[in-house]
Amino acid sequence: MSILIKNGRIITAADDYQADIFIEGETISAIGKNLNVQADEIIDASGRLVIPGGIDPHVHLEMPFMGTYSSDNYETGTRAALFGGTTTVIDFVLQTQGKSLQSALDEWKGRSNNNTLGDYSFHMAVTDFNENTRKEIQHMVEVEGITSFKTFMAYKGALMINDSQMVGLMEEVKKYGGLINVHATNGDMIDYLIAKHKAEGKLEPLYHYLSQPEVTEAEASGRFADMANYTGCPGYIVHLTCEGALNAVRNATKRNQNVFVETCIQYLILDASLYEQNFEGAKWVMSPPLREKKDQETLWAGLNQGSVKVVATDHCPFMWEQKLMGKDDFSKIPNGHPAIENRMELLFSEGVNKGKITLNKYVEVACTNAAKIFGMFPKKGTIAIGSDADIVLLDPNEKHIVSAKTHHMNVDYSSYEGWELTGKVKTVLLRGKVVIDNNECKVSKGYGQFIKRKKVQGKI
Ligand code: URP
Ligand code: ZN
Ligand code: ZN
Ligand code: ZN
Repeated sequence: MSILIKNGRIITAADDYQADIFIEGETISAIGKNLNVQADEIIDASGRLVIPGGIDPHVHLEMPFMGTYSSDNYETGTRAALFGGTTTVIDFVLQTQGKSLQSALDEWKGRSNNNTLGDYSFHMAVTDFNENTRKEIQHMVEVEGITSFKTFMAYKGALMINDSQMVGLMEEVKKYGGLINVHATNGDMIDYLIAKHKAEGKLEPLYHYLSQPEVTEAEASGRFADMANYTGCPGYIVHLTCEGALNAVRNATKRNQNVFVETCIQYLILDASLYEQNFEGAKWVMSPPLREKKDQETLWAGLNQGSVKVVATDHCPFMWEQKLMGKDDFSKIPNGHPAIENRMELLFSEGVNKGKITLNKYVEVACTNAAKIFGMFPKKGTIAIGSDADIVLLDPNEKHIVSAKTHHMNVDYSSYEGWELTGKVKTVLLRGKVVIDNNECKVSKGYGQFIKRKKVQGKI
């Protein structure tokens, strides 16, 4: 099967030009002006931006968490991702403390195998680093193709590891060319503040926010960067939200170490005033919480200055009924927010369209950098000869309204209900196949492939 995409404006992280793209099978075989080729199908991309398929390196599908499961499974989550122009996601396997990494991976493979529509990979969350876990790291990198290891500095008792485990894991991961991802907040301090608020009878969602002040994130981000520098292991801070944390990383990385920073779309465009509305605020209970307007400005600046490399989602949806588990106690509200379908269009509308970032920066932070950091480049994350034909055709002018009534995520509310966006994903190709066209999905579960990732050098 061959496809010719004609007359499009191609945007990569580096370039912006008019050309045709010829796709044979799953990959791009030629790019040029007025290509003279015979194709089975021709797509006219006049008036469209032609960008690489989006990569969201931070999603939680069907994840057991806080006494329930996130409500999108691999089928609904990756379908919604495709509708929004995200063709590859990286999900998190969670080790159960006391058990092996392999047993967790087998469980996650059982849920995901043959159930995804989009391509996917896994980070391995190490929640119990010990002498047995140490022996599994090499196998994960070299056999399973899982080259990034997630750690939590919070969620004590279930996910958190202490600093001695962190340093030991860093030394092991470094040996095999891997990378450590981190949820960098000071878990002990947060647990203290949660207990204090509860003892004072302060139980509304607002106190979720007030239990995780900026300093808890800034302190842990700096501590993580110091440990990464000491061990020489490349690091990646997930869902960074605020000025204090970014300044801690900026300061640490004066040492020429590699600590990449990811933020998520919600931290760029939503703020903590949403918690000031009784239980409705539970929709935005996530960790870290939403911050202040000044933090949004810091994050946009970080993108432009290159200190923030990736915009992900941390997609971890829960139905309203699940959120109600915490109606009398904010600490029981499942933490997480749905955005896998909205990220690319929100970032375009709020970022490019409002002049906060350029088109090239948009592609860099939504598609290319994640592929580079996580060992999938140039197979994924760009439009180039030999790359997978993962391509999004976006109408930069079409206006549309975000709503739970029309979205494809398995969650009964939208965090962005009623927002009018400019810029709409019209057609999506994944490995040379049209998977979305004019609001219709053309593939079923099983089309998505697991991507074994390459070793990463901590440089992009
Ligand atoms: O609130 C969040 N972020 N839920 C998902 C788990 C995590 O910490 O990333
Ligand atoms: Zn294995
Ligand atoms: Zn987290
Ligand atoms: Zn997360």
